[in-house]
Amino acid sequence: MPASSLDQVVSLCKRRGFIYPGSAIYGGLANSWDYGPLGVELARNVKQQWWEAMVYRRDDIEGLDSGIILNRKVWKYSGHEGGFNDPLVDNKESKKRYRLDHLLEAQSAATLQKLVELIRMKTKASEIDTAPDKLINGLVHALFDLKSSAGELLTQAKIVDPETDEPGNWTEPRQFNMMFSTQFGVTADEENKVYLRPETAQGIFVNFKHVAETSRRKPPFGVAQIGKSFRNEITPGNFIFRTREFEQMEMEFFIPPPPYAEGERTDDEWHAHWVNERFNWYTDLGVSPERLRKHNHPKEVLSHYSKATTDIEYRFPGSLGFAELEGIANRSDFDLTAHSREVPNNTEARERLKLPPNPDSVENLTFFDQEKKQHIVPWVIEPAVGVARPMLVFLCEAFAIELVDELPEADAKRAGEQLAAYLKSVEKSENLDDGDKKAIVDYGRQLAAMEIGKALPQVSALLELKGATRIELSKKLKGLVDKLIETNYRTVLKLDWRLSPIKVAVFPLKKNEDNIVTLARKVRASLAAHWRTVYDDTGAIGKLYRRQDEIGTPYCVTVDFESLKENTVTVRHRDTMAQERVAIHDLVPFFSRKFSHPAHCREA
Ligand code: GAP
Repeated sequence: MPASSLDQVVSLCKRRGFIYPGSAIYGGLANSWDYGPLGVELARNVKQQWWEAMVYRRDDIEGLDSGIILNRKVWKYSGHEGGFNDPLVDNKESKKRYRLDHLLEAQSAATLQKLVELIRMKTKASEIDTAPDKLINGLVHALFDLKSSAGELLTQAKIVDPETDEPGNWTEPRQFNMMFSTQFGVTADEENKVYLRPETAQGIFVNFKHVAETSRRKPPFGVAQIGKSFRNEITPGNFIFRTREFEQMEMEFFIPPPPYAEGERTDDEWHAHWVNERFNWYTDLGVSPERLRKHNHPKEVLSHYSKATTDIEYRFPGSLGFAELEGIANRSDFDLTAHSREVPNNTEARERLKLPPNPDSVENLTFFDQEKKQHIVPWVIEPAVGVARPMLVFLCEAFAIELVDELPEADAKRAGEQLAAYLKSVEKSENLDDGDKKAIVDYGRQLAAMEIGKALPQVSALLELKGATRIELSKKLKGLVDKLIETNYRTVLKLDWRLSPIKVAVFPLKKNEDNIVTLARKVRASLAAHWRTVYDDTGAIGKLYRRQDEIGTPYCVTVDFESLKENTVTVRHRDTMAQERVAIHDLVPFFSRKFSHPAHCREA
């Protein structure tokens, strides 16, 4: 069972040292996060898995590490300086600022319909496409086309401020460039203005020729890069899902351009290939395909450089729901043309791509096709993903609360009675919205029909449904459920071992038995030469197992009195909790076998 709410994962991350709030001792810095000892290991493992899949296991991709700060002209010709904009709007009363499209997405269908009618009355036109996947984008364009009075219409339509839950008093929407700027040199004048990169991709495009020539590559080949990017996001949030400073993993795959000869792979086929490759990367690392989906961007919302984009989305728990994890774009010949001084059929290509001439570049980013005997601009397929979003997905997927000890009959009975009383109170309540009430009652009845002792995590999830805590009895029920979960259940992260921050934990059975401690430390050192291994003697063995379960450590090794006589230790498996004796001299081959089979941690 994956996490039933994002809060469960956030709380585990903070409690166990995966992720800390940034600059906390000075009151924090909004929506910024630091990775602690476990978070840094998880992030490194995610990046390592991506790098292995993209670079090491293929023979057509090279790596690169370009600068965060590039010549400002890179961003001029990439289109970011003029066009990397988000539509913004403020509520004059709450002083909250929103991205207009995000604000509209949060409105009810009736409110959006009202806004459509008001715009139509104002413009005397009926051009807004109200098809579900086009409505928001159509409204954003229509509001900007109004030039003035858009704020007034948002106010009249009673567009609700998600922060206050009240209709807002809205300003005119305006465009806002998301790039952070700084100065490169001692004086803060316009000449020295530079940007922190908002994507790693441009560093790859401007190095296209270097990589192609020095590694003797010709399309199809790719260049992969991992590194920090910065965007002055208007609505960061949902923990590490959207932040202003983040890390990206991007790969630009350069392919021959159309027209294609019979049997040659087309750009659409390469695009589909990369969508599948990337989808499989997640499922191979343990993400259930049921919670993943592919979403093709409608033409109207494509980025300025894209011919087609498919997002891989994940169904996060709670209100976040399906959200973008990764985007795979067909960037055509946009970028290499944009950064070239001249390409074949220069004027025609720039007109087609709506690109200005580029007198500043000293290079033509083309390759010479020996067969066609001509210079050609490659097309680009780009899988692009952050590091934080896959981290969050792997954590949500791996999170489980499992029953370890059967509940005593009296406790189970008490929990059943309190659940029944709570549901009765929900049914009678006049405080709840009809939809919320139905959702709570329907789910609650399903749980009441189950063996309650085995369904306490689900009862916890029930109490997280919208409106559930408005009922007085919820507090009593929650108090009991939390207590019973604490004593009878364990929290476990069933991470694939390749992602686990720690692979093996070694414990001495007695921390004041010198011989046992010395041997345990020796065992740790011999394993640490191969895998991230920790030593811990800060609790009783049962407690130490639970702690390692909670952070996803696949194996624990306990050194005891028998170890001193027999030279064997107990190896305990995280997922099954099974234990076996293994000879100390056999531990390295034992774990080598375990850690060579990628999926073994998912067998339970
Ligand atoms: N080069 C193309 C590009 O950057 P994007 O869709 O803007 O495309 C790619 O970003 C991926 O980077 C997203 O799918 C997401 O995983 C990650 N990402 C983008 N903005 C982010 C943010 N503010 N915080 C965390 N991750 C972000």
